[in-house]
Amino acid sequence: MAVVINYKPTPKQALFHASNANEILYGGAAGGGKTKALVMDAFFRCLKYPGTTACIFRRTYQELKDTDIKEANASYPDKLAKYIASDYKFRLVNGSEILFRHCENEGDRFRYSGIEIQFLYFDELTSFEQIIYDFIKTRLRAKKSLGVVPIVRSASNPGNIGHGWVKKMFVDAGPYIQTQETLPFSRKEEEKRRSHLLTSS
Ligand SMILES: Nc1ncnc2c1ncn2[C@@H]1O[C@H](COP(=O)(O)OP(=O)(O)O)[C@@H](O)[C@H]1O
Ligand SMILES: [Mg+2]
Repeated sequence: MAVVINYKPTPKQALFHASNANEILYGGAAGGGKTKALVMDAFFRCLKYPGTTACIFRRTYQELKDTDIKEANASYPDKLAKYIASDYKFRLVNGSEILFRHCENEGDRFRYSGIEIQFLYFDELTSFEQIIYDFIKTRLRAKKSLGVVPIVRSASNPGNIGHGWVKKMFVDAGPYIQTQETLPFSRKEEEKRRSHLLTSS
């Protein structure tokens, strides 16, 4: 029997899923569907590509539990994803995994020194320091056999401690020019500002 995934993206969420930018900031006020978009984006990518790893970061575990993990539990069909509470992750039927992780203090970033991530997500990006974002991005890896290009997808309200650097990186960088080609993630490409700013309102 077919498994029904109960999610009809809004036009903005659909744009978010479809973009081929290396990095995206999905900005906007609370209630715009940003967390839902992150959680579903990780799910669809991991379902499409067996054996991949997505990681969704939030500053604190309590916030993860109250928002991202809660949304995932409500949205991922039981037949396709099983929540492993002891490791704060979902394991999908195809062997892919969606990890939920927090990084509250700058020094905590080193906990993730050994992890390999293909699909990286930050919820409420302005609650993080840039040093954390930059460090965790260095964990993006994709061996050829996985057939994927690593990506970073973030969402945020404006105004938290990281407002300044996030604005500089995504807003002041100017408009994103959509191209058809999909380029592998690299520092070089990052410098070319292949970032995409979306606003939910
Ligand atoms: N496309 C959608 N279809 C149905 N419900 C949605 C959709 N997008 C978001 N929601 C719901 O709307 C509420 C707010 O979304 P959320 O992702 O938490 O917004 P934000 O993170 O921008 O504050 C949540 O209850 C979420 O489940
Ligand atoms: Mg949210």
